[in-house]
Amino acid sequence: MLKFPQNFLWGAATSAFQVEGNNIHSDWWEWEKQRGQEVSGQACCHYQLYKQDFALAKELGHNAHRFSIEWARVEPREGEFSDTQIKHYLDVILSLKSLGIEPIVTLYHFTIPSWLARQGGWQNKKAIAYFLRYIEKIVTELCEHVHFWVTINEPMVYIYYSYILGDWPPQQRSFFSAKKVLDNLLNAHIGAYWLIRRVYAEKNCNRPMISVAKNLQAFVAFSNSFRDRCAVYLRNRFFNLNFVETLRRSNTLDYIGINYYSRMVAQTRNWGLRSLLIDKNDNADFGLKKNSLGWVIYPQGLYDLLLSLKSFNLPIMILENGICTDDDNLRWEFIRQHLEKIHLAISKGINILGYIYWSLLDNYEWDKGFSPRFGLIEVDYNNFERKPRESAKRFAQVCTSGMLNE
Ligand code: BGC
Repeated sequence: MLKFPQNFLWGAATSAFQVEGNNIHSDWWEWEKQRGQEVSGQACCHYQLYKQDFALAKELGHNAHRFSIEWARVEPREGEFSDTQIKHYLDVILSLKSLGIEPIVTLYHFTIPSWLARQGGWQNKKAIAYFLRYIEKIVTELCEHVHFWVTINEPMVYIYYSYILGDWPPQQRSFFSAKKVLDNLLNAHIGAYWLIRRVYAEKNCNRPMISVAKNLQAFVAFSNSFRDRCAVYLRNRFFNLNFVETLRRSNTLDYIGINYYSRMVAQTRNWGLRSLLIDKNDNADFGLKKNSLGWVIYPQGLYDLLLSLKSFNLPIMILENGICTDDDNLRWEFIRQHLEKIHLAISKGINILGYIYWSLLDNYEWDKGFSPRFGLIEVDYNNFERKPRESAKRFAQVCTSGMLNE
């Protein structure tokens, strides 16, 4: 029997655009139509059904819940804020709190308002000032009720898909733009951190805990060649460590929020930067099981990454870890194996505050549409009915007892 620390946070996450539905003022809303892919539409109708969803989370033993605020709802037109939408998010938070569920609030999860996208999005330095204005508004209204903030979800994943691979809006493939966006996101977080601290101080609220949700990926070399090993080193620095190190240096992290899913096998073709950073071999799975998108299940990677963060000397929270699969036994195996590794890391002295599974509900998986099923709770998209899966019930036993059967 593995025992987790008292006060450990147990729960699941969602993001606004993926579950709410009808986020008509967001850049993805326009883009998904232009691209001709499956559109988000009503998503999971979570905007209407959040109370029902939180009641299920409560039944499933969760004491924490991570969700995001859709910037484009709050500020549908430049400089025009919607009190109704801010009130909606206040209601969301109060509804969680009334159930004894700790809210973990993300301020930006991949989507931006269309008006900002038309001005160049995160490539435009002005995005930082816009972001801070939006945050000031939100935090002033919500600070009394929120302790954990996540400023930015997965900055490097966003940069990778939107500015390096060019798969997501604005579909660019330019290291130059990627670097600009990276600098702006770093400064956006740093500005947001001090702004949030200031608002809390002015409103006499207890000091909050602020972080980013940093995706970490395990990188493995395909061969023992010097080039593949260099690629692993570079990717680990560029995609995993640099962002967190910069924020640590600027003293703007109260904990390290991490998202972990899988590993990448680096197989390079030449010494070009693109090959060093991108070329991979998805078939080199060495017999490991995969999720329905083909990502290898690799809990050891989470353990290694957690230990590599020890030198930061900050508490860590797992803000996302999850699997899309049609095999619910595999989902439970995935959760169990990752929890075992987390427990092992805790026993080695790593301070971990909580485990947040991705996702509470099946949802809109960006450019992949609705077919990948990540949810603890199954969603029937014909009638929006919810049904907790067996894996959710097994996870619930861990959440309520704080113990995991080996
Ligand atoms: C993101 C989620 C996404 C999940 C599964 C994370 O990268 O934060 O929005 O649905 O991974 O791909």
